Amino acid sequence: MLVERPPTVNGVPLLSKQRHSVAASIATAFLLADNRSGSRQVTLTKVEVMLEFRAVFVVLLLLCINSAAIAQENQADVEIPPALEVYMGRTIAQTMHYLGAPWLIRENRENQERCSLMLANLDVKPGMTVCDMGCGNGFYALQMAKMVGEEGTVLGVDIQPEMLKLMSERAAEAGITNVKPILGTIADPKLPEGAVDIILCADVYHEFSHPEQMLAAMRASLAPNGVVVLLEFREEDPRVPIKPLHKMSKAQVNKELTANGFKLVKEFDKLPWQHMMFFGKDENTEPTSE
Ligand SMILES: C[S@@+](CC[C@H](N)C(=O)[O-])C[C@H]1O[C@@H](n2cnc3c(N)ncnc32)[C@H](O)[C@@H]1O
Repeated sequence: MLVERPPTVNGVPLLSKQRHSVAASIATAFLLADNRSGSRQVTLTKVEVMLEFRAVFVVLLLLCINSAAIAQENQADVEIPPALEVYMGRTIAQTMHYLGAPWLIRENRENQERCSLMLANLDVKPGMTVCDMGCGNGFYALQMAKMVGEEGTVLGVDIQPEMLKLMSERAAEAGITNVKPILGTIADPKLPEGAVDIILCADVYHEFSHPEQMLAAMRASLAPNGVVVLLEFREEDPRVPIKPLHKMSKAQVNKELTANGFKLVKEFDKLPWQHMMFFGKDENTEPTSE
């Protein structure tokens, strides 16, 4: 039986609606102005002149708002290319919705995934700066916070503010102060450059709608000898009860990461359901996306 995963969400921002409603308001304002001029008398009273000015002012104001909305949309268009549906032969999964967050902290997760065994093999050391990429409600971020200690920092990145809020609430409840929430975009995790020792991508890489941009940004954020660690459900193993869209084979992970300037530096193969693959920067290969 497959493990039922929570609902998904499409992370692509929708600014067109906003533009449409502003355009509609402008059209209405112009119509009002037209009607008014249609009934205009040769000599305008003071009140009429004031009303004319007000109509012109409203139109100009709406035009400004519309330009700002279009500029914002254009900027988004320039910075974030369209989301991919397929990358290097693999169908990209939809983002898990924040309403499914309780699934991430379910009681039997340890039994099913051996999370503590994964963490024990992640090579996290006190004082490190580590990242929980696609941290959700912070299941791993909070545990890593204890491992890096007071001198270290965990950067918890997610594209859903609701997930970050849940993580911050859980951290506050546990008295954890070294987890920093970062609201990324679907193409940019907003990480500091050259500063992160370990980036853990637990059950998230297969959801990236912009894998090349995300990999390039993560690569740039790595400290010397830093690694990106992918934890993905094993596609090769039919006993792993997860839907195929949320699984990846080792060959596919390798193909995608090596095409983007990474090299496999280590693997841990003793988890019950997941591949755990460590990738460092391949200094001899520039990413195809750069
Ligand atoms: C299946 S959940 C895994 C959460 C967490 N890693 C865990 O194992 O408990 C995937 C998370 O990745 C986030 N996500 C998807 N695409 C992302 C992106 N481009 N950047 C950052 N987070 C992303 C989703 O919002 C979601 O919270």
